[in-house]
Amino acid sequence: MNFQQRYGRWGLVAGASEELGAEYAKELASRGLNLILVARRDELLQSLAAQLSDQYGIKVKTIALDLSESDAAEQIVQQTMELEIGLLVYNAAFSAVGPFLERSMDDHLKEIHTNIHAPLKLVYLLGQRLIARGHGGIILMSSLSAFQGSAYISNYAATKAFNIVLAESMWEEWRPRGVDVLVCVSGAVKTPNYVASEPEQTGRFSDSTMEPDQVVREAMEALGRQPFVIPGRMNRFASFVMRHLLPRKVAIQFMGRVLRGMYVKS
Ligand SMILES: NC(=O)c1ccc[n+]([C@@H]2O[C@H](COP(=O)([O-])OP(=O)(O)OC[C@H]3O[C@@H](n4cnc5c(N)ncnc54)[C@H](OP(=O)(O)O)[C@@H]3O)[C@@H](O)[C@H]2O)c1
Repeated sequence: MNFQQRYGRWGLVAGASEELGAEYAKELASRGLNLILVARRDELLQSLAAQLSDQYGIKVKTIALDLSESDAAEQIVQQTMELEIGLLVYNAAFSAVGPFLERSMDDHLKEIHTNIHAPLKLVYLLGQRLIARGHGGIILMSSLSAFQGSAYISNYAATKAFNIVLAESMWEEWRPRGVDVLVCVSGAVKTPNYVASEPEQTGRFSDSTMEPDQVVREAMEALGRQPFVIPGRMNRFASFVMRHLLPRKVAIQFMGRVLRGMYVKS
């Protein structure tokens, strides 16, 4: 099966209005998939939709909604009932940076809704359709912070750990049924959200910050071949050291020092 046969006719990108999400949309469009683009900012979705349909001659449907709403997944499913969706990319996330108690409970719950509740429901609801067709794919975005406790982004990291375990489990469960699941465990990426979190420069670590197109390229290459990918050689090396060479306690302390330097203003 070629890419279109395996993952066509429609790809759905949740969190598509800019940078990483928009890059996923471009990549799928360039491979001939029609697109459903989801995010809150309608004007950004409309302009991306116009650009991609002009450039690649594909059909694009936009859905402007807030994925932290409890029925967001159902709304998406309802609005796409007629479309043959073959690929889901769940890219949207909310990240509450800072000391745990200095963020409101609303922020922590919004992380749970955006990063766990919505992708879980979409994997369940769209997964049923993919399994029924006997082919398709799902990509969930996660973060290197999810491999161990990560102070100052504690709940965000915990939500991203959920995505790793869910995707790996579904990879094993659905592989024999023709559905490829991948989790993309990314290090820092130059996105507006990352920049807006105002990380302080952290010397050597800031050198490994990646461009969105590199991350997407490596994720697309890994889809259908393996359950997870860590884009970037530096990130793969750092993750190997953190997970396999350092005692877990030391890795947690090390991560905490790095994140304190990035996010706790002295
Ligand atoms: N940036 C990094 O350094 C980094 C590192 C590791 C992992 N990641 C992962 O990569 C993914 C994307 O990262 P990013 O956020 O930095 O960049 P992004 O892809 O540039 O932006 C996030 C996208 O999600 C949409 N979105 C966010 N909250 C939403 C909501 N509640 N409802 C609907 N759409 C929503 C945003 O659009 P609207 O604002 O228009 O809704 C935007 O299109 C996330 O899953 C993140 O965990 C990023």
